[in-house]
Amino acid sequence: MARLITLSRAARLVGVKRTTLQKQIQAGELSTFEGQLDLSELLRVYPHTKIEDSTMIERADRMIERALSRVVRDQENLPDAEVLATRIAHLSHELGTANYRVRRYDIFLLQLQDYLRKFATAAAAPTHADINALRDWLDDGLTKLHASSDAEGELFATDMLLRVMAAQVHLEPSAHEFFVQGNDSLLDSGLRAGLALDYGCSDGSCGRCMAKLKSGIVKLVRKPRYRLSEHERAQGYTLMCCHTAVTDVVLEVAEAPQPGHIEPQRLLARVGSVERVADDIAVLSLRPAEGARLRFLAGQSVRLSSDGQSAEYAIASCPCDEHQLEFHIRMRGDDAFAQKLFTALGLNQQVEIEGPHGDFTLDMQSLHQVIFVAWDTGFAPIKSLLEHAMALDAAENLHLFWVHTQDDVPYLHNRCRAWADALENFHYTHLRAESHIYHGDSDAHEILATVLAAIAEPHFDVAAFDIYIAAPAPILEQSRRYFTARGVPAAQLHMLDIPA
Ligand code: FES
Repeated sequence: MARLITLSRAARLVGVKRTTLQKQIQAGELSTFEGQLDLSELLRVYPHTKIEDSTMIERADRMIERALSRVVRDQENLPDAEVLATRIAHLSHELGTANYRVRRYDIFLLQLQDYLRKFATAAAAPTHADINALRDWLDDGLTKLHASSDAEGELFATDMLLRVMAAQVHLEPSAHEFFVQGNDSLLDSGLRAGLALDYGCSDGSCGRCMAKLKSGIVKLVRKPRYRLSEHERAQGYTLMCCHTAVTDVVLEVAEAPQPGHIEPQRLLARVGSVERVADDIAVLSLRPAEGARLRFLAGQSVRLSSDGQSAEYAIASCPCDEHQLEFHIRMRGDDAFAQKLFTALGLNQQVEIEGPHGDFTLDMQSLHQVIFVAWDTGFAPIKSLLEHAMALDAAENLHLFWVHTQDDVPYLHNRCRAWADALENFHYTHLRAESHIYHGDSDAHEILATVLAAIAEPHFDVAAFDIYIAAPAPILEQSRRYFTARGVPAAQLHMLDIPA
């Protein structure tokens, strides 16, 4: 009669990351049944989870608010959407509590049945003492059942409320999971969760986001122009960009496309912000035009053009963020786009984006812990990879080493520290090096050896890590030799050449 929930739901319920629960399961601190968690087991490990104290209600409120903004408000003879949503929240809470109590009464009645069966099969008739013991047992059991404050029941009810507000999608064969809120499409929700789903148009025209519905109910939210064949329909195929999840669903879908599977794109965007984060470095944020979305993998780059000035830059944001693309651009004499950015590119000005390019992308199949090494503005592609890894919540541990040759701290030092404070599986170290390290001076080799040792030495077995390095070519070459000599297989070394 256990109440089992998935790891993703359990993580939402107690407000921790999924990887935290996975670690506790691996350490034997939490036990599971067929990959799922029992609510009472969850409460045993998180006894202080209180609905009022946690972020769960806030999350539910946000979901309601978001759903409300999308509900058609002009339906006659219906209470307004806010009233409906509030009633649903209350009713689902009541239903959850009642459901939980029924389960506990069920358990209690089964125990009573056992008790009476023992009486019936005993050799001698029950004595007064036996009857009194049964009465005491009943009193005790009923008192517990009627106990007004029951944390497990509250968890159960909150889980039900969250189920009303967000359906869970489970993907096969990857076992990735994500939540769908409001009327968001399956595709949008999956991409926002950081998954590398295959898609093309995202508006129902191309058929590339086709997935097989294995269980659950989906609903059309956008009329597709692409027509599924009779056979595809009979097999249960559906278009993820045109459907939302009504209930929890299981989809069979191919994931993790390779960089070469993404077709070249051209789109227009506007300058959302330009922030000077160092004397010669600006963080440029671009907003794609309404309805446009750049399809790329974390770690890839694009060509930016404005009035004939163009250059290639690594994307610094996560593919899960559809609303903005971020770039870290250094002012360089041989970069006409950078010169325009630092002198004449203003808010809302149009920029053309062409790409994506490159194969410096996350190895999604790998189960290794990860070391990221960023050299100066090599932080841009590393940041994209990091944000993607964080969105996926997949890697057990993420270590960032940021080597900088200017100022006392790197230009987004506070952002990295905030991540380290907030995420228990993220570790951040910055290392200062002299800028002449890029110019091959006599002592450059020695300085680099010191930097590489500082990266490798904290790790017991560096060969067990995937290592991603974004640095100028001379640094990459020496890094490759260094890590290879320490047993890191070539398949675990991922390198991107950036301008010095
Ligand atoms: S992405 Fe083209 S039909 Fe869904």
